Amino acid sequence: MSGTMDEAQQMHRVVQVALGERSYEILIGRGLLAGARSRIAGLGARAAAIITDDHVGDLHAPALTAMLEEAGLRVTTVSVSPGEASKAFATLEHVCGAILDARIERGDLVIALGGGVVGDLAGFAAAIVRRGIRFVQVPTSLLAQVDSSVGGKTGINAPQGKNLIGAFHQPSLVLADTGLLDTLPLREIRAGYAETVKYGLIDDPDFFDWCAANWPGVYEGGPEREHAVEIACRAKAAIVARDERETGDRALLNLGHTFGHALERVTGYDSARLIHGEAVALGMAQAFRFSVAQGLCSGQDAVRVEAHLREAGLPTRLADIPGGVGSADDLLGAMAQDKKVVGGALTFILARGIGASFIAKGVPAQDVRAFLVQEIAGLSGA
Ligand code: GLY
Repeated sequence: MSGTMDEAQQMHRVVQVALGERSYEILIGRGLLAGARSRIAGLGARAAAIITDDHVGDLHAPALTAMLEEAGLRVTTVSVSPGEASKAFATLEHVCGAILDARIERGDLVIALGGGVVGDLAGFAAAIVRRGIRFVQVPTSLLAQVDSSVGGKTGINAPQGKNLIGAFHQPSLVLADTGLLDTLPLREIRAGYAETVKYGLIDDPDFFDWCAANWPGVYEGGPEREHAVEIACRAKAAIVARDERETGDRALLNLGHTFGHALERVTGYDSARLIHGEAVALGMAQAFRFSVAQGLCSGQDAVRVEAHLREAGLPTRLADIPGGVGSADDLLGAMAQDKKVVGGALTFILARGIGASFIAKGVPAQDVRAFLVQEIAGLSGA
């Protein structure tokens, strides 16, 4: 879309994350970044460290750097390897060292320019260097725009599991330029779409219906994309505002994640086999089938969920994962490291129907095991 910077600024959508003195705005729009100079300059920093990865940095860091320098900021760019392996202590050490070498002060900015990996890593570095530097999220994947850039969860992975080392550190601003998604591979769009349709499955059946009718526009970059990102961010902002630290409702955002994280773990976080959004799609289909098996949800709703995810090109069955996933006990073992485990009891997000998800605590491990045995045998009905 062509347009002047002022036009780009006028056309964006704004979502507020209401967290008292830590409140911030999420700006959403095509071409937004080009017009965001005054927004970033308005934060009053003198210097910025852009944390990015080698793919995204080549595409977008020069323009962002030029814009910040025009606004009078001293800019340093730190690039890491793309991929989940960068959410590790060694990369964190490198990024923190580079931020310190660049003499970035507390009142300056760390800018996360990239997808979920860069956002989580840069946000965690911003949380711990000098005990907290302000940061801005510039998410460049659909998954990051609808989920990981919003809500202040930051961190890295441990050998024991995903996201086990981290901190809550809210950004000062999120700039979600939906035009940046035009260069994303289809597989990444699909993965981000799984986290988008999730909001319909949690508590918004109308949004699920909208997704079922409009998902091609989200993929192709029509106005449906901005709408979907806005609805997702509004839903997440509302949950984060009432439960920032996940002592209650925020856990609903983990629909599909207990199964999904276990699948990522048993497939060795190998992106050739499974990426996070795909694992979430499969995990959501499993959460609905498990809800049916528990007598909570109608088989019809589980079938609708699975049919839509498949239509949108996402995996819904264990057989969709190349190379197999091991035994039911392997999967149960992987779930034991889940952050929602309390006193060894499993917590799942289950559903009474589409848009009627709830937190189910103390789910008996033997029920989960029996379900997984059926899933591995390809026998789970819905
Ligand atoms: N991605 C889940 C959350 O932010 O709580």
